[in-house]
Amino acid sequence: MDRIVILDTTMRDGEQAPGATMNLEDKVQIGRQLERLGIDVIEAGFPANSPQEVEAVAAVAKEIKRSKVAGLTRPVLSDIDACWEAVHHAENPRIHVFISTSDLHLERMLRKTREEVLEMSVKGVAHAKKYTDDVEFSPMDATRTDPVYLYQLLTAVIDAGATTINIADTVGYAIPDEFARFLTGIRENVPNVDKAVMSVHCHNDLGLAVANSLAAIKAGARQIEVCVNGLGERAGNASLEEVVMAISTRRDLLGAYHGLDTTQIYRTSRMVSDVTGMLIQANKAIVGANAFRHESGIHQDGVIKERTTYEIMDPKSIGLTSSVLHIGKTSGRAGFRSHLKDMGYDMTDQDFSKAWESFREVVSKKKYITDRDIEAIVAEELRSVDETYRLDEVHVTCGEPGIPTASVKIVDSEGREFIESAVGNGPVDAVYNAISKVIPVSNTLEEFTIKSITDSTESLGEVTIRIESNGQTFTGRGASTDIIVASARAYLNAINRLVSMQGLDSKGPVK
Ligand code: KIV
Ligand code: ZN
Repeated sequence: MDRIVILDTTMRDGEQAPGATMNLEDKVQIGRQLERLGIDVIEAGFPANSPQEVEAVAAVAKEIKRSKVAGLTRPVLSDIDACWEAVHHAENPRIHVFISTSDLHLERMLRKTREEVLEMSVKGVAHAKKYTDDVEFSPMDATRTDPVYLYQLLTAVIDAGATTINIADTVGYAIPDEFARFLTGIRENVPNVDKAVMSVHCHNDLGLAVANSLAAIKAGARQIEVCVNGLGERAGNASLEEVVMAISTRRDLLGAYHGLDTTQIYRTSRMVSDVTGMLIQANKAIVGANAFRHESGIHQDGVIKERTTYEIMDPKSIGLTSSVLHIGKTSGRAGFRSHLKDMGYDMTDQDFSKAWESFREVVSKKKYITDRDIEAIVAEELRSVDETYRLDEVHVTCGEPGIPTASVKIVDSEGREFIESAVGNGPVDAVYNAISKVIPVSNTLEEFTIKSITDSTESLGEVTIRIESNGQTFTGRGASTDIIVASARAYLNAINRLVSMQGLDSKGPVK
């Protein structure tokens, strides 16, 4: 049995999903959780993108002790230097060099010849190699590249020192058996292939990213690149939880194993969803709300008699529990903090204090508290962003007949109070109009989702929104037993993210 190296690129390719932008604190939080999950290589970002990205990748690199930390870079010497500046803080740093190799990309996009790309690749790998032994090379759009040219290029970059060669199905074009043959071709025609680990990076445009990754394992790939919840460009990347649980469940067939603690999967999935605001569809394999729910009587009967009749995985193996907490109104801060720790949340004192306030508010209104409630409460703190604006009060009047009207009191980071009221098409619209009067940043609401955390009417309502401003997308989340409050919090959360990235309109808040 061979061990499969799992490279997680949620913080790099995953972040390329519209609206999934992560700030430094988000990345550190997710990095810690990925390490807890046992990820072998954490790709933390693309440092040459911006000085902020260098800082964020460096912060992850400083925090992570066991996993390797990789940064992505073009084979441009100054980009490689920026990448090293960020990842060198890690105990085990990796530089990941990539460049397009298909004729289509070369002719239409890079406007370079095959020879020029080969030369750049070799120089880039050699330059990275001066910094670290651990260098990964990715031919981008590899699956649409002339195989003979690819063999030549891979031979050259391995000679230059690449220790991992990552075959990227950049546009999700491959079909599993064809992809396996493509990889076999590489193994048979790249003479020095044994000097490097063969990796694959599959996109999901045809819904085949996981199938292609598994076919790759059978064809000899020993590193698989994945994203939590299948995040990533367009239709996303191979989903971490699906690849990993397929390896666990079918190691008999795949002849391979991984080194992850799968009981951290559910928590990781929730955290990434909460931090990015990217919701998980109910029927998503492994981590969707319905993944372990049985509806039909025959199935329920079977599972009660013997779980394995209709469950190929134990929900506990991904860390799914349905525990109702034994903490409530009378619980103290210490008990709550220790429960959060058991759940894997390591919070700063400041974030914990805010979570504690929210928890007190929820227990005063709700009889039973579940772990899911706690996750929704801390999710707001996890979406850590400088709170330029805080919602102090919100009131609405609505009904039939009547004009939905809202008033809000918002306090800014300097303690100034702003009160505004507005009407709207409905209570949420009225609240958003009132908030917009206080904070004059132009934006458009692109998506608004509301769901209840548990099944009862006293449940917490969780609102996720997506707003667009100057071509950038920002997500916001809010949770409360009152859905209007949750909606207002979600909007302010997104606005705070927007303001922290783009600054305020010159006018600042209006009185
Ligand atoms: O999809 C892709 O080709 C990539 C590479 C940078 C590995 O993300
Ligand atoms: Zn990709």
